[in-house]
Amino acid sequence: MCGIVAYIGKKEAYPILMKGLHRLEYRGYDSAGVALINSDLVVYKCKGKVSDLEKFTVNKNKTGTIGIGHTRWATHGEPNDVNAHPHYSGSKNLVLIHNGIIENYAPLKEEMIKRGHVFESDTDTEVLVHLIEDIQQRENVDLPEAVRIALNNVIGAYAIVVLSKNDPDLLIAAKKSSPLVLGVGEEEFFVASDATPIVEYTKNVVYLEDEEIAVVNRKGKLQIKTIRNQEITPYIHELQMQLEAIEKGGFDHFMLKEIYEQPRSIRDSMRGRVHVDKGVVELGGIREYMQKFVSANRIIIIGCGTSWHAGMVGEYLFEDLARIPVEVEYASEFRYRNPVIYESDVVIAISQSGETADTLAAIELAKSKGATIIGVCNVVGSSIARTTHAGSYTHAGPEIGVASTKAFTAQVTVLTLMALAIGHKRGMISETHYHELLSELDSIPAKVERVLKLNDQIKYLASIFKDARNFLYLGRSYTFPVALEGALKLKEISYIHAEGYPAAEMKHGPIALIDEEMPVVVIATKGASYEKVVSNIQEVKARKGKVIAVVTEGDTIVRKIADHVIEVPETDEKLATLISVVPLQLLSYYIAVMRGCNVDQPRNLAKSVTVE
Ligand code: AGP
Ligand code: GLU
Repeated sequence: MCGIVAYIGKKEAYPILMKGLHRLEYRGYDSAGVALINSDLVVYKCKGKVSDLEKFTVNKNKTGTIGIGHTRWATHGEPNDVNAHPHYSGSKNLVLIHNGIIENYAPLKEEMIKRGHVFESDTDTEVLVHLIEDIQQRENVDLPEAVRIALNNVIGAYAIVVLSKNDPDLLIAAKKSSPLVLGVGEEEFFVASDATPIVEYTKNVVYLEDEEIAVVNRKGKLQIKTIRNQEITPYIHELQMQLEAIEKGGFDHFMLKEIYEQPRSIRDSMRGRVHVDKGVVELGGIREYMQKFVSANRIIIIGCGTSWHAGMVGEYLFEDLARIPVEVEYASEFRYRNPVIYESDVVIAISQSGETADTLAAIELAKSKGATIIGVCNVVGSSIARTTHAGSYTHAGPEIGVASTKAFTAQVTVLTLMALAIGHKRGMISETHYHELLSELDSIPAKVERVLKLNDQIKYLASIFKDARNFLYLGRSYTFPVALEGALKLKEISYIHAEGYPAAEMKHGPIALIDEEMPVVVIATKGASYEKVVSNIQEVKARKGKVIAVVTEGDTIVRKIADHVIEVPETDEKLATLISVVPLQLLSYYIAVMRGCNVDQPRNLAKSVTVE
């Protein structure tokens, strides 16, 4: 993880860097730091959040029109002041910020120690900045060349920016496996881990590719070459992102704002792709791969965390609607267990950030075996979006809260569209059912809007259960992944232990946990296994568990047995996830707020996991 930001131009750099770091803080918040060149090269860094850094720099000289900033999620070395970035080279002439892991840092460090280098921190990053200076001095080359040679000697992942006291008109940025975006303004440049720190200054960006090095100067000159010394002509993209999309807009937290954005983000993920009246579903991004899908013998879905949960919903949808066998895999397991992959397989990689290291590695593995890789990503231009053969973006807009909410429903929406389009092409869905599902899908945003009106009821339920030590979540069929997702949301932001289980599996073990202290959230909306789930609720009640049931509006059966019911609008079972997950997101949110937790930046987590 880690967020990096840099500026060179005519403006004061410090305010730009700090604003950028706040926007990138979702990527890590163990420590923060900046380096600026004014009359000297100064570095200010400390453990804690960007706001701690702001306090730390009060009354310090923060002038300078060139600078770099970093917010860290520690991989090597504990989160403390010394390990915070930027890191100095031995002579203190260079400073560097880094996102990623230098895997061969230990032998490099050992070698340099033998040559007299003294290291201050425990990070892998510091080794890289020493290495650059070492090369600069030993080989008598300029800084860009030293960076290039150094990067040929490192193994691992990096997005870096280097600043030099002796070259105060130059910034050098490079990347491999970690993301880096370059903003191109009028005689000014911005560098950042994503476009959010850049968007208010310029819409012109260049996404650096792996093993590319960019050298920018104050006169507006941009030069890109690969670490193998090949010149690259920069391709300037125009950013579509709007500034409002990355600000809180009156909500207390990004997570709440993002939960409330779901009617819009689900709609945006369908926009231009579904024509209900004409009965057409068309996903432009995968048009050329439709035939591959139609004739696929198998679909493999890979992802991590919430994206993996969306993948499970995808499994049910593809099997149900398109009758293609599906396997859903944790990317981290898939990549290391020598899986059987055929050229005829279609692999769907799901990722909000598009930067998850395990998902990227799993994609590379499947690609090397000749499979077709389709991405479902939210971040435009992200590594996964670029490395897949084709894909469909989720159009949820930037998701800043570490706990994923609107990205999940957008992923499920896109997977539903894919399954519908492919099932229809394969002739596996009756025309009537196809049209019914399309118009039902069209009504989902309005139904989610109605669920959001239950806010106060859910807040009240949160106040009852906020002190529970454990929670069980049960669902069945399409709502089983919802149970998993509900449990994950609660765990990650409230630190309450929670488990999601298939409702019927409860009696094979977890039922032993149930007593009067145990809240059990059951998704018992109308569907093929409704009666079975009702029996599962009875089983919980017989052991005095406290049942919070999510039911379909007008349900009278569960109301009689559950302790609390949350009524959600009726929909087709295949689309139920999009509606029933919303109250669970709100429940976790309010419990976490009431427990005084940092909802948007939960402890130990970061938004995108760009390390293994
Ligand atoms: C979701 O709330 C989590 N923070 C996490 O599980 C996340 O879904 C996972 O890390 C995958 O991220 P991605 O979608 O960006 O690949
Ligand atoms: N490896 C570096 C550190 O621990 C950067 C971490 C990261 O990008 O996640 O400081």
